[in-house]
Amino acid sequence: MAGIKPKVRAPRNRTIALSESELSRYAKKLLKVSSKPSAFALQNLLGKTILGDTLTVLSRIPAEVADLIIVDPPYNLAKNFNGSRFSAMSDAEYEAYLDSWMGELVRVLKPDGSLYVCGDWRSSCAIQRSLQSKLCVLNRITWGREKGRGASANWKNGMEDIWFAVKDPQNYCFNLDAVRLRRRVIAPYKLNGEPKDWNDSESGKFRDTAPSNFWDDISIPFWSMPENTDHPTQKPEKLIAKLILASSRPESIVFDPFLGSGTTSVVAKKLGRQFFGIEQNLEYACLCEKRLEIAGDDASIQGYTDGVFWERNSLGAQKSKKNP
Ligand SMILES: C[S@@+](CC[C@H](N)C(=O)[O-])C[C@H]1O[C@@H](n2cnc3c(N)ncnc32)[C@H](O)[C@@H]1O
Repeated sequence: MAGIKPKVRAPRNRTIALSESELSRYAKKLLKVSSKPSAFALQNLLGKTILGDTLTVLSRIPAEVADLIIVDPPYNLAKNFNGSRFSAMSDAEYEAYLDSWMGELVRVLKPDGSLYVCGDWRSSCAIQRSLQSKLCVLNRITWGREKGRGASANWKNGMEDIWFAVKDPQNYCFNLDAVRLRRRVIAPYKLNGEPKDWNDSESGKFRDTAPSNFWDDISIPFWSMPENTDHPTQKPEKLIAKLILASSRPESIVFDPFLGSGTTSVVAKKLGRQFFGIEQNLEYACLCEKRLEIAGDDASIQGYTDGVFWERNSLGAQKSKKNP
């Protein structure tokens, strides 16, 4: 078992970390690849984090069980996932890597299911080609996010893509009203003295807008956020919440084959969905278990309040109006 080096953190740092004793306690909850075949029957998989290599584990997952699959794989760049190194490769090699598991994910997806795949600009073309050969691609969401200092002789990367694909474009779930974005109205136009398509409430003037495929209202988790962990590529809960709310129903089954620190399972639990996922790294898999335990007491998702996604910083403005 990998040892955990305790870190000294600032008092306001809320990063979720694991002690040695937590690591051994949560490790007992994980489903191991060596478990007997019945452990991989659907009723035994639900709520579980599987510790193992996705490429091996996928063949043990029953067919057509997942309503929604969220895939956040290693991107095509060099990355160290707690000792397990992923290396950058040619586009063709990366596409072959994607193909090595994409077909299995399609088998696991229900006929009316949806699948999302995350990537950066370097990985995106290969992701699109791999998806298009097996599914019907419906959209590419671009998430504008700030991280890092950038390069001296190139544009700093400030975006990621999230590809959206379904098995059957005539039959899939999309809950538009669950993912509207509440924006402050800059020019509150009235018709016959009544607000035109916006709400004039005590807390301000807002419009619930249709969600577009450009997302600029989500921050990368950072040290003072309660969802933050030391995982190097953790996705924000708010981002995953949009995917889950749009493309699944209460009690739907959500699956993540590259679970990392567990964001997909944690958000699925907070939103009343069923879930399971796979992660190869023991410490990350245990972090997921710890976050799932915390989610049992606190189902809040930063940036998603009272069933509404709030434009960045507008919720604070609304609260301060209520409690000046
Ligand atoms: C991009 S990260 C996912 C981060 C995650 N979305 C989160 O919010 O924490 C990819 C994860 O996949 C894991 N991984 C990479 N290759 C894997 C494999 N073959 N089987 C299982 N997990 C793998 C890595 O350890 C890493 O934690």
